[in-house]
Amino acid sequence: MSTILPMSTEGQPPLRRISSLPGPRPWPLVGNLLQVRPLSVHRDIERWCQRYGSFFPVYFGRTEVLVVADHEAVAAILRDRPDGFRRPGVTARVSDEMGGLPGVFMAEGGDWRNQRRMVMQGFAPHAIKAYFPALVKVALRLQRRWDGAAQDGREIDLAADLKRYTVDIIAGLAFGTEVNTIDGGEDTIQRHLDDILPAVARRSIALFPYWRYVKLPQDRRLDRSVAAMASAVDELIVQARARMAADPARAARPGNLLEAMIAAADQPGSGVDDRSVAGNVSTMLLAGEDTTANTIAWLLYLLQRHPRAMQAAREEVLRHAPDPAAFSIGQMDALDYLDACIQEAMRLKPVAPFMPLEALRDTAVAGIEVKAGALVWCVLRHHTVSDSHFPRAAEFDPERWLPDAQGAVAADKKVGVPFGAGPRTCPGRYLALLEIKIAMAMVLARYDIAAVQTASGAEAGEIMGFVMSPENLVLRLQRRDLSSR
Ligand code: HEM
Repeated sequence: MSTILPMSTEGQPPLRRISSLPGPRPWPLVGNLLQVRPLSVHRDIERWCQRYGSFFPVYFGRTEVLVVADHEAVAAILRDRPDGFRRPGVTARVSDEMGGLPGVFMAEGGDWRNQRRMVMQGFAPHAIKAYFPALVKVALRLQRRWDGAAQDGREIDLAADLKRYTVDIIAGLAFGTEVNTIDGGEDTIQRHLDDILPAVARRSIALFPYWRYVKLPQDRRLDRSVAAMASAVDELIVQARARMAADPARAARPGNLLEAMIAAADQPGSGVDDRSVAGNVSTMLLAGEDTTANTIAWLLYLLQRHPRAMQAAREEVLRHAPDPAAFSIGQMDALDYLDACIQEAMRLKPVAPFMPLEALRDTAVAGIEVKAGALVWCVLRHHTVSDSHFPRAAEFDPERWLPDAQGAVAADKKVGVPFGAGPRTCPGRYLALLEIKIAMAMVLARYDIAAVQTASGAEAGEIMGFVMSPENLVLRLQRRDLSSR
């Protein structure tokens, strides 16, 4: 038995059983499943954390799950991978059934190690820096689109436009392909991702896997989306192979992640084959689109509600990076206040507010016995919104991430892990932060934000799909009077 946090040793109390901990009362057969709502399962469990503390059981049907909301225990679990914990087998099965190919997100064990090594090369900071001009190009495309909306007084469907932005960036960086969904180009990928991502989340916690026996219209639509995505991905690979055939030097010096993966797959004994290349193409799209787009949406929403923070962020942008067409890496690095706003938005509105994992061996978590095969539900937003870890935790206060006059930073960076932690921490985080900064700096430099709001004007609810997104937001922009700079 391995130990995550101090477990029973001589003189200490014996390990506690999960079922012995107080938690919400399960109903026969369905357990607690009918007490959580799929689209707000994160909130339901966070509410139980307020009542039962950082460790308690919930039952998904008859499956016992240990909820872990203590940030140190969560970090220890996340670090104990790939050998101690894996992503849940049930999610892998749902993904397999949907024709999912093996990519780094779903891979486990030695297979994961091979893929992770390969993927990390494509995401190394120097690779992202080399791609910076293309990032700005996509941002300027978004700016042209939003200039048009501002001029015509049109409302912008925020989620849809931000997803175009993030898909175009990933396609260019990772696959060397100009997709241009922003200008209304081919948007197969984005449309189908919208069907696929929520379905994986929904099916992973379904009470009964009805789709294995009968297909409803939504399941047939999903099958069509999966097939269309697969052929879009195959097409990306065909294009990359054609580029490499035309220019054999590319195999030695791949221009992007896809070419690097193909070159690696073509090496004898690489442990990576064409299926995993295709799997990782889908994985990058799946993992990089909604996460980054929704983080930007939440940040815009929060800034709009905090005019002083918005003003401070804008002043910083106008000081360091006033012209989007001339953005540089150095300018983005200088945007410390904006960076603090991003940290604060991810603290209050993390797009991944929880992470379910499965134990691979008998272990102990904070003195609780966790048997091999048991599920743990790591809650990432609990201590991050508690006054004991973040004073005035409910307030959006970017200053807490900035050094004071003595150089001390109030926020404890170890408590929140919006990109996960340990060996499987998000490989796209550097890219994501840069994407967010570029988009935000472009908006702040160029527009006044007239509104970021729901259709009804009410507070934006949190909707849990593949990630936690705000309910539909519309954005209204006005071009800033540039002479007033
Ligand atoms: C704000 C944006 C993003 C957030 C908040 C985010 C968050 C996360 C989180 C929480 C995980 C799980 C980490 C863990 O298991 O410890 C993850 C994994 C992953 N992310 Fe991100 N992510 C973002 C953007 C991206 C982007 C832009 C890409 C790539 C284009 C990406 C690719 C991945 C991949 C491939 C994994 C799986 C890593 C593995 O299992 O080894 N993510 N991300």
